[in-house]
Formats: sequence, C-alpha cells, structure tokens
Amino acid sequence: MHSGHRCQQLHRLAAAPLALAAALACAAPAATEVPPPEAADQIWRLGAVAAPPHNPASAQKSELGKALFFDPRLSGNGTVSCASCHNPALGWSDGLKTGIGINGSVLQRATPTVVNMAFNTQFMWDGRMRSLEDQALGPMKTREEMHTDMDALLAMLRGSAGYRTLFAGAFPGEAIDEATLAKALAAFERTLVSSDSPFDRWLAGDRRAIDAAAWRGYQVFKDPQRGNCAACHSGPNFSDNGFHNIGVAQGGTAYDEGRFKVRPLASMKGAFKTPTLRDVELTAPYFHDGSAATLMDVVEHYDRGGDDKRNLSQDVRPLHLAPQDKQDLVAFMKALTGRMPALALPVLPLIDAAPPSAALPARTAAIKEN
Ligand code: HEC
Ligand code: HEC
Repeated sequence: MHSGHRCQQLHRLAAAPLALAAALACAAPAATEVPPPEAADQIWRLGAVAAPPHNPASAQKSELGKALFFDPRLSGNGTVSCASCHNPALGWSDGLKTGIGINGSVLQRATPTVVNMAFNTQFMWDGRMRSLEDQALGPMKTREEMHTDMDALLAMLRGSAGYRTLFAGAFPGEAIDEATLAKALAAFERTLVSSDSPFDRWLAGDRRAIDAAAWRGYQVFKDPQRGNCAACHSGPNFSDNGFHNIGVAQGGTAYDEGRFKVRPLASMKGAFKTPTLRDVELTAPYFHDGSAATLMDVVEHYDRGGDDKRNLSQDVRPLHLAPQDKQDLVAFMKALTGRMPALALPVLPLIDAAPPSAALPARTAAIKEN
C-alpha cells in the first residue's frame, strides 16, 4: 500500500547511475506492510550469546573447535565426524529420521540441529547433558556414534604439529586432554547462531519483513485459544528448555520414555525437550523419532491433539484450526529461518599416522553375516 510512495522517494533520491537499480527494486511487487510489533512481542528478541565463565569465548578456541567438529579422524575408524550428523548443508542436522553412526549403526533418535545451542540450558532430547562442554565427548564415547578410542585420539592430536599449534593458541599452557577438547568443541558450537530471520527483522520494526500469512500465523502461534504453541515454544529461541509429552505415536519398537529415564517422575514419561523452532524449515523430518515428514505434518499432529494419549501434556488438545490457520502457522515457522555468520570450511591439520582403518572390517563382517 505504501510501495508507490517508497518508489517515488527512491526515484527522487537516485542519481543517474542508481536509477536502474531503483527502477528494478520498484518493479518487484513490494510486500504490503503488516502491523508493527507491540512491546510484548519483544520477548522473542534474541540476545547476545553468553559463554560460561570457565570457558570464555575466543577466536582461537572456535577455530580449533571447528577443525575438531569437521574431523572424521576423531572417530574410531576415521569415518565419522560431528559434521557427518550435524551437517551444515542440512541445517546442521542430517535429514534422516534417526541418526546413522559408525559402521552404519542406526540410532534410536533423530539428530537435532546444533544451531543456537548457546541459548539452551538442557541438552539432548531427554536433557541428560547440562552443558555443551558436558555433551561434547558423549558422541565420541558412544559405541554407535563415533566409537573413539580416547587415548589413541589424544595421542593423535598431541602427535600432530598442526593440532599442537591450534591447541596452544586456544589454551595457552594447558594440556591437550579431554577437557580442552570438549571446551573447544563447545566454544565452536556457541558461534553457530542463526538470527536476523524475517521475523527478527519484523521485531526490529521492518513491517515488510514478513508477509501477511506469517503475521497471521504468529497470531495463531501465540494465542492460547488457538495454536497455544507458545505455551512451550517460548522465549527468544522458541524453547522453554522444558520437557513435555506431546503424544508422538510410539509405534512398533520399544517405548522411548524420554525424560523419565533421567528424572523418574510420572509426568516425565514420554516427555522430550522442546526443540528450538529457529531454522526449523531446514531440519526435516521432525520430532525425536523423525516421524513427521513436513512442518504441515507437525501442525496436523497438534491439530488432532496428538496421537499417543498416555501421559499427554495438558497443553496439547484438539485445536480445530481452519486450513488457512494451518498454512499460516507453517508460513510463520518458515519466517524463523535466519542468517548465520559465513562459514569457511577448515583445512584440517596433518596427523602423523593414518587413522586406524583396522576398525573398518566390522562392516564387512556384518555384510558377510547376512
Ligand atoms: C551418528 C550421528 C551423530 C554424531 C556423529 C554426532 N551427533 Fe550430536 N547428536 C546426534 C543425536 C542423534 C543427538 C540426540 C540424541 C539424544 O537426544 O538422545 C545428538 C545431540 C547433540 C547435541 C544436543 C542438541 C540438543 O538439541 O540438545 C549436541 C550439542 C551435539 N549432538 C553435538 C555433537 C558434537 C559436538 C559431535 C561430535 C563430537 C556430535 N554431536 C556427533 C547425532 C550425532
Ligand atoms: C506442551 C508443549 C508444546 C506445545 C503446546 C507445542 N509444542 Fe511443539 N514441541 C514440543 C516438544 C516437547 C517437541 C518435541 C517432541 C518429540 O519429539 O517427542 C515439539 C516439537 C515441535 C516441532 C518439531 C521440531 C523438531 O526439530 O523436530 C515443531 C515444528 C513444533 N513442535 C511446532 C509447534 C507448533 C506449531 C505448535 C502449536 C500448534 C506447538 N509446537 C505446540 C512442545 C510443545
């Protein structure tokens, strides 16, 4: 509605060489303005990342952590890196229903994104880890994920001139050990921040940053009488860092008790951590078991009030949303796709000896057995 006015201004301001650019900008149909944000909407504004006092951020730490994150030689047979599952080209996840680890092991749960983990206080679907530092060594020590021989790995890192330089820069005077390894990975992960999404730009006052569908979807999202999504997807990272049973159908295999295994309270049976919705468009399929293929499938799940009603959260109930509301919710979630700092892939340091491919025959053996 104001686009004509804006174009006139542009033409007036444009010096001759800029006139073409201005004309092109005005040729594209300018989005109409949606209502401005209200003061209460600012609860969604993403703040600055705070590193824990025992592991302050530094460029050297994140550079080292990045090398480690992308280095498959951290795994038992040199084939699996953190990035194998947390792949930057797939929203720092893997596009699979559940993760696939070393020697093709199929994991029980879906791989979450590692983006915006700096804003989390609970880690893993069941919150069994309390910090990124705590979490970092877990995948290496898990047989099905990376199956790392930690002593051999530390010897490999200490024996590499390139890694010694990176560690010395990141942790002057400290050893190359499990603690510095974990701190470097955590420091790198804290740099993976997605912000400046269309929704963030709207929060900052740009009324053309989101379209009418996304704006309407936001109203459905936050209204307790309609979507009720913000009951759990609350705060700047769209997660309350809490655990809820939303009634994901747990068919076939053994029942995943989720949070209950970590905190045996009846209410925690089948409860999982509320995941962030930032960049969610990029990380299909969805839910802890990857059972929802699309964002619309997720919305339909909530509209039905969940499937498995055992111990269902009171905040999940049939919503009876109109088809337009559902589409609007999806449009809103897509408006949460942000921008990330440019990522240059690391050049990995040389190591003295090739990683132990001797562990590889496990797969050949498995094939023979079949
Ligand atoms: C084989 C695939 C795989 C590999 C390799 C892997 N991860 Fe994960 N990651 C997962 C899965 C699956 C989960 C969720 C598991 C669960 O909740 O039980 C997860 C969870 C996480 C989380 C918690 C995310 C959240 O939302 O709470 C972080 C952080 C993480 N991984 C970092 C790493 C790092 C660092 C490495 C390398 C040292 C790594 N991962 C290697 C599959 C993988
Ligand atoms: C009672 C709390 C609660 C409410 C209400 C809720 N969610 Fe969730 N949401 C969760 C939890 C917990 C999960 C993970 C559950 C699982 O995987 O078992 C989740 C998962 C999701 C996912 C999948 C994300 C991923 O990375 O796999 C999306 C998308 C989502 N919710 C959107 C919504 C929308 C849209 C609404 C409103 C219609 C909504 N949620 C309402 C708690 C909630």
